Amino acid sequence: MKIAVLPGDGIGTEIVAEAVKVLQALDLQFEMETALVGGAAYEAHGHPLPESTLKLAQQADAVLFGAVGDWKYDKLDRPLRPEQAILGLRKHLGLFANFRPAICYPELVGASTLKPEVISGLDILIIRELTGDIYFGQPRGRRTAVDGHFPGADEAFDTMRYSKPEIERIAHVAFQAARKRNKKVTSVDKANVLETFQFWKDVVTEVHAQYPDVELEHMYVDNAAMQLVRAPKQFDVIVTGNMFGDILSDEAAMLTGSIGMLPSASLNARNQGLYEPSHGSAPDIAGKGVANPLATILSAAMMLRFSLNQPQAAERIEAAVKAVLAQGLRTPDIHSEGTTRVGTAEMGAAVVQALR
Ligand code: IPM
Ligand code: MG
Repeated sequence: MKIAVLPGDGIGTEIVAEAVKVLQALDLQFEMETALVGGAAYEAHGHPLPESTLKLAQQADAVLFGAVGDWKYDKLDRPLRPEQAILGLRKHLGLFANFRPAICYPELVGASTLKPEVISGLDILIIRELTGDIYFGQPRGRRTAVDGHFPGADEAFDTMRYSKPEIERIAHVAFQAARKRNKKVTSVDKANVLETFQFWKDVVTEVHAQYPDVELEHMYVDNAAMQLVRAPKQFDVIVTGNMFGDILSDEAAMLTGSIGMLPSASLNARNQGLYEPSHGSAPDIAGKGVANPLATILSAAMMLRFSLNQPQAAERIEAAVKAVLAQGLRTPDIHSEGTTRVGTAEMGAAVVQALR
C-alpha cells in the first residue's frame, strides 16, 4: 500500500503531520512518500505541481493531501498559482467523484451557528462532480467583446459544459452510494436557466431508471442553498456539478460546527483516490499550532476505506475521533464553554492515544 503524502501550504503541513502519526499508529504496513505541492513546490521548483510530484501521485494507491494556497501567490499567472496543483491532480488522475460527508457529532451541536434541533443527528453526503463543468470547460480566457452589452470592451469568459458520460458516471456513483444509506438522492441543478443543467437533470433522470429502489428528487441550486440551512436533515445524498458542489459543500460544513471537521475523498474509476480536508490552507492561522487536524485524520480514514481496502482500520480511526470529542478536547474552531482547548499536535496525539 503506497501513499503519496502531499502536505502543501499553510496549515497543510501541520494537519497532515497529525494524520500521518495516526496512520503510523495502526499496525499496518504502508509505504509513505512525501513531496512538495502548491506554493511550497512553486518556491522550490518553480511549479505548483512538479512532474515528480504528479508521478508520485499517479504511482501511489492513494494521495493524502493537505491544502494549497496563500494570498501572496494571487498575482502569479494562473498556471503557476497553488490552486492549479489540486486542479491538476484531479484532472490528471481523473478524480471525477468527490465525496464530502457532513456529519454533526452530538458533542459539536453547540459549535454550529445553527440551532441544535436543526442539525443534531445530521448525516448527509454531498457528491460533487470534480473534473468537468465551468472549472475545466474550454474555451475560456479574455478577449474584446464583439457583442453583448458593451461591444468593443475587454471581457472574460468561461465555459460551462457537461457531456452525457460525465453526468452518467457521477449519477451512478450517487445512486450506488444512496443504496448503502437512506436511498434518497437530491440532484441539484439550475435547469430553469442553464442548458447545461437541464441536460444534467435529463441524464440523471435517465440513469435513475436503473435504480427504482432509490428515490430521486431534483432541486434548484438556490433553493438547495436555502434548504441546507433551513432543514438540512431532509437530505441524504446530494449530487451536483463541480461549481455548485464547491459552494454547497462549504455551506454544509458549517452545519457540522466547523469546516475543520469535514473530510473528503476524490476517486477515479479505479478507486485510486485523493483524500483531503474540505477546508483550505488558512494562511492566517498557519504555523500557530491551532488548526483542527480532525478533517485530515477523518480523510485518512476514508482513504483506508475507499482506496486501501482496510474498513476496520477506518472504523478504528473514526471511533478514536469520537472518543476524543467525548473526552471534551477541542481545537479553537470547535471550542465552547466547558470543554478543553487543545492545539493541533495535542489533538493528533489524543487520537493516537484513543486508538490504543
Ligand atoms: C475545494 C477548493 C478548491 C475548489 C480550490 C482550492 C481550487 O475550494 O476543494 O473545494 O474550488 O475546488
Ligand atoms: Mg471549495
